[in-house]
Amino acid sequence: MPTTQVYPDPIAASNSLAVEVAALIRSRGPNDRPIVFGLATGTTPLPFYAELERLYRDENLSFKNVITFNLDEYLGLGPQDPQSYWHFMHESLFDHIDVPSAHINIPNGMTAPDDLERYCRSYEQAIQEVGGIDLQILGIGSNGHIGFNEPGAARDAHTLVVDLAEKTRTDNAAFFDADEEVPTRAITMGCGTILSAKRIALMAWGERKAAIVREALHGPVTNDLPASFLQEHPDTTFYLDTAAASLLP
Ligand code: F6R
Repeated sequence: MPTTQVYPDPIAASNSLAVEVAALIRSRGPNDRPIVFGLATGTTPLPFYAELERLYRDENLSFKNVITFNLDEYLGLGPQDPQSYWHFMHESLFDHIDVPSAHINIPNGMTAPDDLERYCRSYEQAIQEVGGIDLQILGIGSNGHIGFNEPGAARDAHTLVVDLAEKTRTDNAAFFDADEEVPTRAITMGCGTILSAKRIALMAWGERKAAIVREALHGPVTNDLPASFLQEHPDTTFYLDTAAASLLP
């Protein structure tokens, strides 16, 4: 069963998670195996990424021995596209810290249609080759998705191409000029990929997420709500603000 940690606001919660991340990074020497993080996009991790940037700038936290794998990317969007997750990650974090660009892995949204299957397998293999994900950072969709594993997702799936739920497309429409511009498909780590991370930290803020957080933690484990699979993960913590935790028993 996941543990929950409740903080007065997203900044306090993000700072606490950043302390854990900094300790993990500092626990490895420069010649040790790099630490591997799985990263999320969206509005939720922004205060967390801001704190990592501050730790780099003000407290000498180096990311040189860090490898990152992002959860997902919209199909059809390339790095130069301002709505791509590639762009988001560079703007929100990677451009401001010293992680080597060769250590950054983000699914390639411009993969040719006939190469997608091979590409997804190679993304999965790249994670295995570096020894798996040490800490996976997650947000949660208002429909209970993790990564882009929408309701109905298989528990054991590995990196795959998915159709986005209508709810997800509406939730994310604010970042696009027009609703029709929101892509309909994405590449995402599967629930199986996510669940094989050694440790998982899910962040959720605000009243808007309170009902889904309660269902994910206390409802049945079901593929109707992919985040409920986390109940079966041996080392998961939900980092919540008081509003997101407000419906917990
Ligand atoms: C993003 C991702 C998604 C988001 C979720 C919440 O890489 O994997 O699962 O974490 O959609 O989005 P926000 O944080 O914008 O509420």
